[in-house]
Amino acid sequence: MSDKVVISSADSDTTKDTLRKIPDPCAVVIFGASGDLTERKLMPALFRLFCEGLLPESFAVVAVARSEMDSESFRQKVRAGIETYSRISPDQVNKWSAFAEGLVYHRVNYDNAEDYKALGKLLAKIDKKKDAAYNCLFYLSTPPILYPIIVDQLGKAGLSQQSGGSWRRIIIEKPFGHDLASATDLNNQVHKVFEESQVYRIDHYLGKETVQNLLVFRFANAIFEPLWNRNYIDHVQITVSEEVGLGSRAGYYDTAGIMRDVFQNHLLQLFTLTTMEPPAEFNDNALRDEKVKVLKSIRPIRPEEVTQYTVRAQYRTYRDEKGVAPGTETATFAVLKLFIDNWRWRDVPFYLRSGKALANKVTEISIHFRYVPHLMFPLPAGEQLPPNVLGLCLQPKEGMRLSFETKLPGAGMRTRSVGMTYLYEQDFGKNTLPDAYERLILDALQGDASLFTRSDEIELAWRLIDPILLGWQSKHAPFLTFYESGTRGPSKADEFIQADGRTWFV
Ligand code: BG6
Repeated sequence: MSDKVVISSADSDTTKDTLRKIPDPCAVVIFGASGDLTERKLMPALFRLFCEGLLPESFAVVAVARSEMDSESFRQKVRAGIETYSRISPDQVNKWSAFAEGLVYHRVNYDNAEDYKALGKLLAKIDKKKDAAYNCLFYLSTPPILYPIIVDQLGKAGLSQQSGGSWRRIIIEKPFGHDLASATDLNNQVHKVFEESQVYRIDHYLGKETVQNLLVFRFANAIFEPLWNRNYIDHVQITVSEEVGLGSRAGYYDTAGIMRDVFQNHLLQLFTLTTMEPPAEFNDNALRDEKVKVLKSIRPIRPEEVTQYTVRAQYRTYRDEKGVAPGTETATFAVLKLFIDNWRWRDVPFYLRSGKALANKVTEISIHFRYVPHLMFPLPAGEQLPPNVLGLCLQPKEGMRLSFETKLPGAGMRTRSVGMTYLYEQDFGKNTLPDAYERLILDALQGDASLFTRSDEIELAWRLIDPILLGWQSKHAPFLTFYESGTRGPSKADEFIQADGRTWFV
């Protein structure tokens, strides 16, 4: 983002805080506790919440996994992870012992009923000692194949039951299903044991500050919403570009690919938040009802139409990565053009684009307004003034930028585009935004599911993606093109948007 004109809130102190309530006394039970996510994200997030005084006094973490380990070794592993993956200040170091006291490791075989009974007894013991009132948040961070098994066993052990005002909730990590059929199956299995109101399907993009800011930006300001429609907006681009390649995730990624890994969840979440109608209230059902309405209004793409609406590509060295199938056709880059058939958005194209092994890590939503309807300034024949663009940047520099035309000083009527930029880091300093997992875990502990995905939302997202994946495996598939790592992606993506008379913004 360039920052020619910078606005800052430094001179205005009009912060409106919403009430932050400390969750009830509770235990968090993490399944898959020896895994990477627990080490890199979940435990650092819990520790930060603890240090900020946002966890209840009576609080425990029960770490559950298959590995043979005692609680002390687990605590040491967690401490090392926190030091590596999160910023830990001297002040926070002092809080470690108090936090570590509440960490317990419990070994299970995921399909062994006895181990769940033992878990129940452990929770009851913690409850007695710590007055946790038997409130419990289960967190599934295991390989997805284990989700139905764990949920079933929790049900059989009676651990999902809420009684006497206590609560039981479950967070389920992505991927939630592999296609519509498997997602529906999983929903059915989960619903046999947990009510929908107990289920929190996580998409960490919704925990990002700037994603939530999209809601504030749209619905706490009166000046944007009147323009937020087909009368003023020409098209919208949503980009999730990553520098990293496959890493060590071949087993999962080669069967998922970019469409399942990023489009079905993160990109569609950004898309629905950008396009939904204003909810009447800020609560979980009101918000999710609006997102669902958008998903229902997306113009479906049939398998035989995929060339018209998508581009798929692979970075050139992908097939050399360890663990991928020989000759694999898995896409690591894609473009998807969507339309929403409703009054607000009819015929406005939305270009969603994501890729791995690209030049930069950028996540950005750019809203491209229409050309001015009549140009009174003399311009050479065939030239137009660039239309206004509103960029909402989620990564790497969180903020927003509005571009508009100004007059160049001096004789004549020459104009130039300038950008008015707001950057979070100028206001709050670098690296100060909380991690998405902190926000989401706290919300789940407080019983607020607004930033989690509801069962119908997940199924509608798959309903859109399934035919595309089917098309990609059929004779209608667009040609798989290759791109060099560290570039902007395949030229096919440029040609795709240029065919509509447009260009990529980032
Ligand atoms: C994950 C995907 O959900 O999101 C990864 O599985 C991807 O492949 C990651 O790299 C991107 O998240 P972020 O927060 O780094 O943009």
